[in-house]
Amino acid sequence: MCEPWWKEAVVYQIYPRSFMDSNGDGIGDLRGITSRLDYLKKLGIDVIWLSPVYRSPNDDNGYDISDYQEIMEEFGTMEDFDELLFQAHERGIRIVMDLVVNHTSDEHRWFVESRKGKDGPYGDYYIWRDGKEDGREPNNWGACFGGSAWEYDRERGQYYLHLFSKKQPDLNWDNPRVRREVFDMMDWWCKKGIDGFRMDVISMISKTEDMPDGEVKGLYGDFAPYCVHGPRVHQYLKEMNREVLSKYDLMTVGETAGVTTEQACRYAGTDEGELNMVFQFEHVDVHGKYGKWNDKSMPLTKLKEILSRWQTELAGKAWNSLFWDNHDQPRAVSRFGDDTAPYRVRSAKMLATCLHMMQGTPYIYQGEELGMTNYPFAGPEDFHDIESIHAYQEWCESGRVSHQEFWPCITRVSRDNARTPMQWDDSPQAGFTSGTPWMPVNPNYREINARAALEDPDSVFYHYQKLIALRKQYPVIVSGEYKLLLPDSEEVFAYERILNGEKLLVVCSFSREETKVSLPEEYAGGTCLISNYGADDWSLDGKLRPYEAFVSYCSGRSARLPR
Ligand code: GLC
Ligand code: CA
Repeated sequence: MCEPWWKEAVVYQIYPRSFMDSNGDGIGDLRGITSRLDYLKKLGIDVIWLSPVYRSPNDDNGYDISDYQEIMEEFGTMEDFDELLFQAHERGIRIVMDLVVNHTSDEHRWFVESRKGKDGPYGDYYIWRDGKEDGREPNNWGACFGGSAWEYDRERGQYYLHLFSKKQPDLNWDNPRVRREVFDMMDWWCKKGIDGFRMDVISMISKTEDMPDGEVKGLYGDFAPYCVHGPRVHQYLKEMNREVLSKYDLMTVGETAGVTTEQACRYAGTDEGELNMVFQFEHVDVHGKYGKWNDKSMPLTKLKEILSRWQTELAGKAWNSLFWDNHDQPRAVSRFGDDTAPYRVRSAKMLATCLHMMQGTPYIYQGEELGMTNYPFAGPEDFHDIESIHAYQEWCESGRVSHQEFWPCITRVSRDNARTPMQWDDSPQAGFTSGTPWMPVNPNYREINARAALEDPDSVFYHYQKLIALRKQYPVIVSGEYKLLLPDSEEVFAYERILNGEKLLVVCSFSREETKVSLPEEYAGGTCLISNYGADDWSLDGKLRPYEAFVSYCSGRSARLPR
């Protein structure tokens, strides 16, 4: 059976600002990435997802684009990009670009023109509305980064919609000229030879005509029912596919927060002609009193239910991404594992095993392969991310909740956790820069860094390397049927994968304590493909050590061979 390449691929996400600085200005850049391609090759990944590198005033670190066909000055030049693409391809690594087209920067030429008035050629490129009779915002919607989703523009005398910051005005996808511009721009990148697109908040591009007040959640009304999975989103994606995607050999992944499995089967259904896969967040969403700012973990039974439902309900119909973290999420080992010294390495390997043996395309976020951890924030002045800064103002400085209560919540999930510089070695600034990094390096870099990992055969790095290699070797990992075992256990995540008589048993303990477990005996004679206590150090004896993980493989065929 021959699956499309993106079903067998492992993706590595790079957040360029924090990956590698080549010129000492403290900001990661394209040449820095090129200089580390051999490291990625060694890890064995197939694809790089490059977070945005386009021209941007950096209100949201590049997710606010002012020119889609230029490179951000701090990151280098278009020649540097071409060189990166060439060098990556030389090593058999593909590059998937971040496509941020729900909104642009307010400094984009289109917006600068659009705010001049309704009648110009760009008058209808964004979502403009008059205020209410008393001059207030057109409705009560709140933006993702705090405040109202509407901003009054004096020049034009109207409000514009921004679901994110006020420097990220939403494009009007109902205007065919906007779609044409976006498709032409995508085509331009495809002609350059890039290998795909990760589509930022793509489920939000179509809005309802009517924009009534939303249900108040927190301080503002919720825009989701009117802007997420909107009325024409599938029509526009089919058009994009017809006009651009279908003409090239690409990998396309849609960031689709709040999507159900049924909706995912439309966005990423095998025969739908839209995208290859979704990137959804159900397993990382834990909402509480203060919205996403929450210091609680999801119970393991619930986490298993969610991940398993995505496994079985997409099987044979659509394709999913597998991830624990990215540039918007806290560090995986700090959130789902245990980042304290005795357990960090063990639990990071356990999490990797648990995820990489599932069906879908795995994503590794930079530093995850080293078991990098959350950052020890001392106070709100340590935040760099617009979302965390605004959230702290809105919840704490406003007096709605005490610092003491809010602090553990915001530090646990702040996006800044993921954005501290990559830890390359134990030299000052972790080898990320020879200057002053734009964001402080996590002080644990002396112990947790790439050089140390490469020198230690038992490191998290080599565990990932092995998992990636296994995916290439065993079709059952890519294509096997998934079966959850022990759904009620709060300690153990165990499942089987089955394909034509080949079977895998994946066992992962999420517990710091030794736990008792009963597993199918047929696997006792299987081959151990990987374990986090040492190659042959595993058994089905009914006991699991803290954060133990192993995979046992049985092949029906060899079992039937005469002895
Ligand atoms: C996506 C990106 C996030 C960004 C937002 C607005 O969720 O992953 O980093 O802030 O969209 O573009
Ligand atoms: Ca630099």
